[in-house]
Amino acid sequence: MKKPKSTLEPVIKWSGSKRQVANDLSRLITEGNTYFEPFVGGGAMLPFRNIKNGIANDIIPELVNLWEAIKNEPEQTAFEYQTRWEKLQKEGHQIYYEIRDKFNETKNCFDFLFLTRTCVNGLIRYNEKGEFNNSFHLTRPGINPKTLKEIIFKWNYYLKDVEFYNLDYTEVLANVKKNDFVFLDPPYGGTKDRYTKIDFDLEKFYSELDRLNTIGAKWILTFDGNAGSREYDYELPKEIYTHKVFIKTGNSPFTKMMKTTIDAVYESVYLNFQPANELLIDFGKQANQKLALQSSFEMQD
Ligand SMILES: C[S@@+](CC[C@H](N)C(=O)[O-])C[C@H]1O[C@@H](n2cnc3c(N)ncnc32)[C@H](O)[C@@H]1O
Repeated sequence: MKKPKSTLEPVIKWSGSKRQVANDLSRLITEGNTYFEPFVGGGAMLPFRNIKNGIANDIIPELVNLWEAIKNEPEQTAFEYQTRWEKLQKEGHQIYYEIRDKFNETKNCFDFLFLTRTCVNGLIRYNEKGEFNNSFHLTRPGINPKTLKEIIFKWNYYLKDVEFYNLDYTEVLANVKKNDFVFLDPPYGGTKDRYTKIDFDLEKFYSELDRLNTIGAKWILTFDGNAGSREYDYELPKEIYTHKVFIKTGNSPFTKMMKTTIDAVYESVYLNFQPANELLIDFGKQANQKLALQSSFEMQD
């Protein structure tokens, strides 16, 4: 499988996506029999995964159905978007709300795709009852079906050797064996998952990581965000991992919104194995930038 040269346009827009750092992060993925991604979301890592055979999973059924459609029925997936999009252009924005109502009854994955591409800022948002509740993006027509078709076919290539599941992550991790590789990007520790509204149980998660260590599987975990002087840091218990590096994941949406000096956000990446020395040096540079940023804030305080 040939990796993309740079970032790839997302086929499924997902907040919290690792799109901007996928290429960089993938340098940490070593060889392995099977690549596991139990929290796949928008799947930014899949095209960069380095290991041919993949198992990808998410707890959201419509998301997993959409992944399967992109893998098995790319032509139909593109067509389903096109018909909805054309109807929207012809008949106006009430079509969006009709499709949204239908989606909330049936969870049809093509309705889901259409909504993610035409809602305000592409933000997938559910209310407490689990209904998709974002509004129509009035000032944008939604991605052109021709463009989306090209993107769908690009992604289809990277999904050929990936099997998708819709399970709790623990059920997927139960199949991991020695010499498999697991990439973990769970909901942030201690928070309710933004899509499922379920508390993420950190103790259970830590014991899964511990179990993977005993089996002899390798894993990397991206976990928290740091913006400037603020830390949203959930320290992983030291005995579970062997290395921790930092990666710059972007700029804080909060400071952007407040139009103050934009803070860089660094995310911790934990590993249960020793990465190649050159990688430690490269990622170490990012850690130094993070430290420099932190001390400049301390000096301001
Ligand atoms: C931070 S997102 C992953 C983003 C992904 N790396 C990307 O690049 O788009 C976390 C994902 O975990 C999923 N999730 C939350 N709880 C889960 C569970 N118990 N089992 C499986 N997936 C879960 C969410 O639906 C969400 O898609």
